[in-house]
Amino acid sequence: MSLLQTTGLRASYGQVDVLLGIDIEVNQGEMVVILGANGAGKTTTMRAVSGTIPRSGSIVFDGHEIVTQNAESIVRLGIAHVPQGRGTFSDLTVEENLRIGAYIRKDSVESDIERWFETFPRLGERKSQKAGSLSGGEQQMLAIARALMSRPRLLLCDEPSLGLAPLVTQELFGVLKSLNQQEGLSVLLVEQNANLALKIANKVYLLETGQVVASGDAESIAGDERIRRAYLGG
Ligand SMILES: Nc1ncnc2c1ncn2[C@@H]1O[C@H](COP(=O)(O)OP(=O)(O)OP(=O)(O)O)[C@@H](O)[C@H]1O
Ligand SMILES: [Mg+2]
Repeated sequence: MSLLQTTGLRASYGQVDVLLGIDIEVNQGEMVVILGANGAGKTTTMRAVSGTIPRSGSIVFDGHEIVTQNAESIVRLGIAHVPQGRGTFSDLTVEENLRIGAYIRKDSVESDIERWFETFPRLGERKSQKAGSLSGGEQQMLAIARALMSRPRLLLCDEPSLGLAPLVTQELFGVLKSLNQQEGLSVLLVEQNANLALKIANKVYLLETGQVVASGDAESIAGDERIRRAYLGG
């Protein structure tokens, strides 16, 4: 069942058109990865879906047209966005950041905080520490946990592995994969590391200068000659 479907999605910054008509679909329970070079429009696609920039075309989420909705309504409908560069509040503690993530609801906040401290023990150990003093990997975990506090059905995650050591990246992707497989959380993930992406994705879209130039399941994408040359080193 289709959870998110963008059709002819366009966005620009000032006079510059960046998304030239993007069609992307995420089905319920899928892990979908967007690959693409720097500047291809990956982050802009995520912002367009989460309603943090003006956009046009169509974005249907769970049967609702959301292209005209604002960011807060979109969170309430069930989409959470972990922006590139993390976006936690550095002067607030780990626990305060998680509370902010639950701003759209009041019930079960305490038990959800405990739950994410169990999933990310390093956050639990540092719950009173200011987010700004966490390591890069810990901040990324906090950013994801904070997004999950809104109990989304779709998690948008923009390059969570950026700047992280391979082991931390593995840990992070392990958590995303288990949330996806065990709890049916649908995920739309931007990732530069094609090898990593192809390991965990059900479906992959390749973006080039604001357009989808290839898409398919991870296996067929991994076999695509263009992708091998540009992203997999051979
Ligand atoms: N706020 C902005 N104002 C003007 N142009 C912007 C802005 N943000 C992004 N752009 C431009 O839009 C294009 C797409 O940027 P975007 O951030 O979506 O790329 P990306 O695929 O996420 O790249 P990266 O892999 O480097 O994160 C780039 O040419 C970029 O310079
Ligand atoms: Mg980006």
